[in-house]
Amino acid sequence: MRAFLASVFNPLHQGYCLSLSASYNSKNPQLLLPMSKTFQRTLVTAALPYANGGVHIGHLAGVYVPSDIYVRYLRLKGEEVLFVCGSDEHGVPITIRARKEGITPQEVCDRYHGIISKSFADFGISFDIYSRTTSKVHAETASQFFRTLYDKGEFVEQESEQYYDEEAKTFLADRYITGECPHCHNDKAYGDQCEKCGTALSPLELINPTSAVSGAKPVLKKTKHWYLPLDKHQQWLEPWITQEHPEWRTNVMGQCKSWFDMGLQPRAVSRDLDWGIPVPVEGAEGKVLYVWFDAPIGYISNTRELLPDTWEKWWKSDDTRLLHFIGKDNIVFHCIVFPAMLKAEGSYILPDNVPSNEFLNLEDDKISTSRNWAVWLDEYLVDFPNKQDVLRYVLTANAPETKDNNFTWKDFQARNNNELVAVYGNFVNRALVLTQKYYDGVVPTPSVLTDYDQATIAEFQGVKAEVERLLDAFRFRDAQKEAMNLARIGNKYLADLEPWKLIKTESERVKTILFLSLQLVANLSIAFEPFLPFSSQKLRGWLGLEKAEWERLGATDLIASGTTIAAPELLFEKIEDAVVEAQVQKLLDTKAANEAANYQPEPIKTAVTFEDFEKLDIRVGKILACEKVKKADKLLCFTIDDGTPTPRTIVSGIAQHYQPEALVGKEVCFIANFPPRKLKGIESQGMILSAVDADGSLVVITPEREVRGGSQVG
Ligand code: MF3
Ligand code: ZN
Repeated sequence: MRAFLASVFNPLHQGYCLSLSASYNSKNPQLLLPMSKTFQRTLVTAALPYANGGVHIGHLAGVYVPSDIYVRYLRLKGEEVLFVCGSDEHGVPITIRARKEGITPQEVCDRYHGIISKSFADFGISFDIYSRTTSKVHAETASQFFRTLYDKGEFVEQESEQYYDEEAKTFLADRYITGECPHCHNDKAYGDQCEKCGTALSPLELINPTSAVSGAKPVLKKTKHWYLPLDKHQQWLEPWITQEHPEWRTNVMGQCKSWFDMGLQPRAVSRDLDWGIPVPVEGAEGKVLYVWFDAPIGYISNTRELLPDTWEKWWKSDDTRLLHFIGKDNIVFHCIVFPAMLKAEGSYILPDNVPSNEFLNLEDDKISTSRNWAVWLDEYLVDFPNKQDVLRYVLTANAPETKDNNFTWKDFQARNNNELVAVYGNFVNRALVLTQKYYDGVVPTPSVLTDYDQATIAEFQGVKAEVERLLDAFRFRDAQKEAMNLARIGNKYLADLEPWKLIKTESERVKTILFLSLQLVANLSIAFEPFLPFSSQKLRGWLGLEKAEWERLGATDLIASGTTIAAPELLFEKIEDAVVEAQVQKLLDTKAANEAANYQPEPIKTAVTFEDFEKLDIRVGKILACEKVKKADKLLCFTIDDGTPTPRTIVSGIAQHYQPEALVGKEVCFIANFPPRKLKGIESQGMILSAVDADGSLVVITPEREVRGGSQVG
């Protein structure tokens, strides 16, 4: 079967339109969901980051890139969507940081709110609003929300005993109390957790508690708080999640079920603290809303700040679909606590889904702000200017969607070089270069389509439905892979047809091949728009495409014949070994600095007498020869001048710390009166002394100046 491609892009021949998107009606987009509920609009929230640090790759991979991909996708489809986020500026960690630095909590927030918003903007995270929980609107909204629940009798009031610092005249947040862990006896455990053995603690469990504010011994004092009785909410929460939302991710469902199995408990929603939103109730002086009560209300306040007149449509109408993108440490708050708050208030909708990711590790180690084990976005951009899309790509390709995942610089380099450069960039570049070379950059007019052309078209037209299916299921890594398939199809098409060979013999055929290739390039710019917005925009600029039209993904008439396209440039650049090695070195330096800061010498052994010491015969000897012991990774065999006419042989387990030749000629200390013993068939006559450094490496002990072989040490 042959068809004339001319009919494809001639509007008069609509019957031949090859675009798959004919049935799409962008004026009336309605989402049909598994529960067959019809939604008119989607409100997407991304977890509010704490304003006490910058944004790192873990945040980006877990929450902000997937939510941004999803929102960009919905916008491209012409759907009504709102994307809301902001800084989470209350809570104890911010006050601790402020105290440490001798500034106010507000100053801490101002600094990090600035850094965080800039990072998000730099990486193209396309929030409709990025505000903060120290805003006026938020204080009003959160306070009102509390008051409504209070007036409706949705809280339980309860007195309890809590630690109070009489010197500083303040109740102590759990983190402000240190003491001995009842489990592992680490004496620097916190009131909420022992970081040595990882056990969650309550301050009352600490042995010898001390106030971290003044160093005083805290006393127990009565205090009143308000509790959200989650135990009462369990009866609707449990069926709502487990029966009405079987489609929620397994990791999310698993956590919820385990909370339900343990039985939900009332949760305090207020704290004795001077940083936060005051509890709007008489007699609540010195009390603020617990940060996890006010923060999720931030989603509402920020919507309200952006749309003062129409915000309720987004929060209070049944045809709005609410989605919370979060990391796994936030699951309980978004699936259980916040829904209970919304339900108790009574006028709000509940989330339809909570696509939570697991964690991203960095070079096989948990990302940690306090240990500075992270790749910070602002630092990344200094080292990799304009390479936001590379990071977005790698983080999506490696997204921790179903299990914890690992970011390594080697993988970053490999994905850039082998996928973005070798597959996507290579195809685009070949299509542009050949068009430049054969047609001065003017899109040629195609002629007859072969069966092979048609098979290729059919293949790339299938990509749209597949990407949509995967995105609708929040399967971002697979969706991106599918978009990449367009480039693989393109590379195969060019490699199979070899237009560079045909140009001499079948120049008409080459026109069709390049025309179709350019259509594929244009398709790539649409398919990748949600994932790699910067590169897509660049590509569209080169092709002269005004905007990405999702509904035309799959079409073969995206750029018309006769259009002049830009001179070819590289869409992605290779990343050299030295560049990623420098990043790895930066991390190794961090690790070494952490180790040095945390180094604690081994405890002193039990006392010995002078007689015990005198029994050891320690001597100095010069290394005459040193070599590896065969079939033993750790052993080196030394020949040592010990002052006697026959040199001494000593086998020592330091082969992983020294090259044998580097030791020849050095003087070392050894124990001379150990009974000889055989190691790998060699008789070893003593033991060489070495020091164990902080990182575990062994260093031989050498006298400060050369002494005669056989000198005694004492
Ligand atoms: N600041 C919290 C965190 O980083 C997330 C808050 S999400 C919200 O873990 F719902 F409370 F806003
Ligand atoms: Zn412990």
